[in-house]
Amino acid sequence: MAVSLLTGGAGFIGAHVCNELIDKGHKVVVLDDLSGGFEENVNPKAIFIQGSITDHVLLEKIFNEHQFDYVYHLAAYAAEGLSHFIKRFNYTNNLIGSVNLINESVKHKIKCFVFTSSIAVYGRGQLPMREDMLPTPEDPYGISKLAVEMDLKSTHEMFGLNYVVFRPHNVYGEYQKFGR
Ligand SMILES: NC(=O)c1ccc[n+]([C@@H]2O[C@H](COP(=O)([O-])OP(=O)(O)OC[C@H]3O[C@@H](n4cnc5c(N)ncnc54)[C@H](O)[C@@H]3O)[C@@H](O)[C@H]2O)c1
Repeated sequence: MAVSLLTGGAGFIGAHVCNELIDKGHKVVVLDDLSGGFEENVNPKAIFIQGSITDHVLLEKIFNEHQFDYVYHLAAYAAEGLSHFIKRFNYTNNLIGSVNLINESVKHKIKCFVFTSSIAVYGRGQLPMREDMLPTPEDPYGISKLAVEMDLKSTHEMFGLNYVVFRPHNVYGEYQKFGR
């Protein structure tokens, strides 16, 4: 049975990913600090841990307790324009938190790290947006997403960590917090 760590699994997209993974037969450990998600979104078949990706001691403990095959990293504080005014929080949560996970993933030789980046890496005024465009993020949120993408590339080259990057655009649907 594949064992997966899912960060942000109490959030909107994470709750869908959790259900899919469980349907596919994965054992899923959800790590979420509930800063933007809801415990009731988490599939009851998943193991739920309330905590932050910025807590590297907690991450070390979780990675030691479970032999993860995959990491699906969706936890983030997504605030594009607002991120200019909460830079330290943005980079701590979205960049350093991601690096904490990448470090543990290398140490524990996981099979693949799946990272949810964002349309925000493209910046403004480059339509239509294509994967082969040079990303030019214009706010700290987009910069942190691009920095994680770049760190994953260099981690792959240096340590062989396999990874996949998704850049969702504007997603909406069930489990979304707005309008609750
Ligand atoms: N929804 C969109 O349109 C969209 C577009 C582009 C990218 N994304 C990205 O997709 C991912 C999921 O977004 P979403 O729309 O589901 O957002 P969401 O806010 O519903 O989910 C994010 C989850 O991450 C958790 N979280 C935040 N900081 C954390 C931390 N430090 N430690 C542990 N958990 C933490 C929150 O509690 C929340 O449950 C994010 O990485 C976001 O940047 C979303």
